[in-house]
Amino acid sequence: MEQFRVGVIGCGAISGNHFHAIGKAEHAVLRAVCDVDVEKLHRAMEAQGVEGYTDYNDLLARSDIDAVHVCVPHYLHAPIAIAALKAGKHVLCEKPMGMTIEEAEAMQRASDESGKTLTICFQNRYNGASLRMKEIIDGGELGRVIGGSAFVCWDRDEAYYASCPWRGTWKTEGGSSLINQSIHTLDLLRWLAGGLKLKNATMTAKRLADTIETEDTCDMLLENKDGNRFVFYCTNCASTNENIYLHLILEKGELHMDGARLTIITPDGARLEDFSVTAGVGKNYWGAGHDQMIADFYRHLRLGQAPFITSRDALETTRIMDAAYHGNAPLRHR
Ligand SMILES: NC(=O)c1ccc[n+]([C@@H]2O[C@H](COP(=O)([O-])OP(=O)(O)OC[C@H]3O[C@@H](n4cnc5c(N)ncnc54)[C@H](O)[C@@H]3O)[C@@H](O)[C@H]2O)c1
Repeated sequence: MEQFRVGVIGCGAISGNHFHAIGKAEHAVLRAVCDVDVEKLHRAMEAQGVEGYTDYNDLLARSDIDAVHVCVPHYLHAPIAIAALKAGKHVLCEKPMGMTIEEAEAMQRASDESGKTLTICFQNRYNGASLRMKEIIDGGELGRVIGGSAFVCWDRDEAYYASCPWRGTWKTEGGSSLINQSIHTLDLLRWLAGGLKLKNATMTAKRLADTIETEDTCDMLLENKDGNRFVFYCTNCASTNENIYLHLILEKGELHMDGARLTIITPDGARLEDFSVTAGVGKNYWGAGHDQMIADFYRHLRLGQAPFITSRDALETTRIMDAAYHGNAPLRHR
């Protein structure tokens, strides 16, 4: 197949990144869109020049759709992704992979049973600095990863939550700072560290306690299989959207990522590599990786290969997230 025929379900804020990326991808072509909000649906249909549906089942019933992008609120990721896989479509689902580990496992089962590919939109893995860190770690030049930390200090105010009712509730967003804003960085830390397990976590609402029922701040202690410690901190209480900071300690050096800048500390000294990009659509701090991720997903599908981000791997990020929310970290904000 030259081009996979794609449907996008959910035509809200992030859909623009998907439309742009599908438009550029060599092996994908947009064929249909879906949204329950008729105004947003018509806007997308007109802008993209494709047919549209208010019921995703009608889109899934089309035999000339090969793949769907799930771009809806968190509580709908699992049901819509599972329905799409059962309907024989490949699925590219926005993060997170379900709101709980049970949902993520059900998504994985649906992919296994249908034989269709599921990937999760952790596009920040495609950022230059992320790929370079992975290359250095896998190449072994600095030895094993033996510790690390990651910080996501962003700014989300009352108006952000007021503008969108599915955010800020346990039922529909499933959390806030961790599941929504910083899940990318948790995924990066886990992926680069080669697997992590949650020891314990704390959830609080410091700034937005009167606005949302979920957390605006979370911290975690994690361990790798050798018992090395990693720490993680995320908050929506910062005065601005700061650069994401990620630090990895290796046996023979260190990697410091500050936004798009990577400092590599080797036994011989330090060197800076700058991967700053100005191109791309959407907010800079979302990363400009949707274009790369989506093109690469269809390239792998065309070759009959597993995607760069397998759902089985993404599921492990949900496992940590789920343990933080539902394990030992009761929200302590009231
Ligand atoms: N990868 C990233 O960096 C990134 C950035 C922003 C958002 N996201 C994710 O994208 C998803 C959507 O976020 P958003 O900011 O675009 O939200 P949004 O509220 O702007 O858009 C969601 C859209 O889904 C539609 N919708 C709701 N129920 C539906 C249904 N049953 N069928 C079809 N459409 C339905 C809504 O009407 C809305 O237009 C979330 O999972 C979010 O976490 C990812």
